[in-house]
Amino acid sequence: MATGTIDRRTFVGQGMAGAALALAGAAAAADKPRRTRVGVIGCGSVSGVYLPHLAACPFVELVSVCDIRPERAEARGKHFKVAHRYPHIDQMLAGEAFDLLVNLTDMQEHERLNRQAVAAGKHVWSEKPLANSLAGGQKLLEAAKGKGVRIWGAPAMVVSPQFAFMARTLAAGKLGRRAAAHADYGHTGPDWSAFFYEKGGGSMPDLAVYNLTTLTGLLGPAKAVVAMTSIVTPTRVIRDRGEIPVTAEDNAMVLMDHGHGLISHVQSGFNYFNPHGHEGREETRHTISVVGTQGSMGLVGYDWEPRGVDLATREQPKFQRHATDAGTFVWQMGASLAAESLATGKGLLITPEHALHVVEVMAAARESQETGRRVALRSTFRWPVVS
Ligand SMILES: NC(=O)c1ccc[n+]([C@@H]2O[C@H](COP(=O)([O-])OP(=O)(O)OC[C@H]3O[C@@H](n4cnc5c(N)ncnc54)[C@H](O)[C@@H]3O)[C@@H](O)[C@H]2O)c1
Repeated sequence: MATGTIDRRTFVGQGMAGAALALAGAAAAADKPRRTRVGVIGCGSVSGVYLPHLAACPFVELVSVCDIRPERAEARGKHFKVAHRYPHIDQMLAGEAFDLLVNLTDMQEHERLNRQAVAAGKHVWSEKPLANSLAGGQKLLEAAKGKGVRIWGAPAMVVSPQFAFMARTLAAGKLGRRAAAHADYGHTGPDWSAFFYEKGGGSMPDLAVYNLTTLTGLLGPAKAVVAMTSIVTPTRVIRDRGEIPVTAEDNAMVLMDHGHGLISHVQSGFNYFNPHGHEGREETRHTISVVGTQGSMGLVGYDWEPRGVDLATREQPKFQRHATDAGTFVWQMGASLAAESLATGKGLLITPEHALHVVEVMAAARESQETGRRVALRSTFRWPVVS
């Protein structure tokens, strides 16, 4: 994903912090807002995008960083002036006190580390997936409730203005009877870490997860899944590792039944040539489209870096572009929003139940590929997401 950082003034002036400060009144605004003490685990690629956003967030105090490759924690700690640096989660949890763990480690490590943090009484913001299975994730949520801590998982697109526009357009009935939707996201695959291609990895939890979150968020929880997945490229060359076998799918087609006849389709892959590479801001295609009996709507660009929404209806059959301003939305803002929510009590549209529903969709897609069958889903989440 493309990096997009914001400075503190932009963060406070344009967005989410504004409302909280206004409520606090002029006297309180003169003081520093209450801050959430944050520890970041996983100092690899994505930490280079999260840390600038966290460092600029007025509700965050960056307390510690941790990585099993200690030189990475040292480097990020030095660059972002984070005083406490650890080589292992045990030392991090036993070290300098903090409130919120931001988990940016390998996908296969999230559930275990999230569970350990919750057991230690920490709130958690986790990169996707929140857990490796629905059952594991549900246990994690139960543990969090028992400990009185909050847990959230990426991705964060439901807070974008484009998501809100699409959700409200659907809710207003402007598309008529909702029929079908399609979404796609792919590139030629990361080359910096092997976990993307190993069991528990794959293009679904890394890429399709965005579209699955957006489409279930827009259309409602899925009732059943049918899918085909494959491995197109059987070996990959990974920096520092050399050639590795690919054991997780790198090509996926997932169909979701949302009930009332509404069917959607998501495709993802690590073998997709794109003339723009992985530069989100260059993408101008409709990567998400939704169609009904009275209208059609397309998201311009990716849901994680949206550029607008094109809408055509029976009354207005020429596509018109709406919601071209993303405001303060950037895909890497979720951990900062979680810190703000903990500091101010402000609610969040992102819910762990939604993240776990998507975990179940991906597990069902793997099962459908293995068995050749349609797989019924059990989980659900608060919907509509945006009212
Ligand atoms: N790189 C991106 O652009 C990007 C964008 C969005 C989301 N993500 C997600 O972020 C997560 C991390 O991806 P990445 O690209 O940064 O990977 P990465 O390999 O660059 O970084 C992961 C880091 O976690 C560390 N780590 C692994 N296990 C650990 C453990 N048990 N304790 C402490 N540290 C541990 C690794 O040493 C490594 O430095 C993944 O879930 C990925 O899907 C990545």
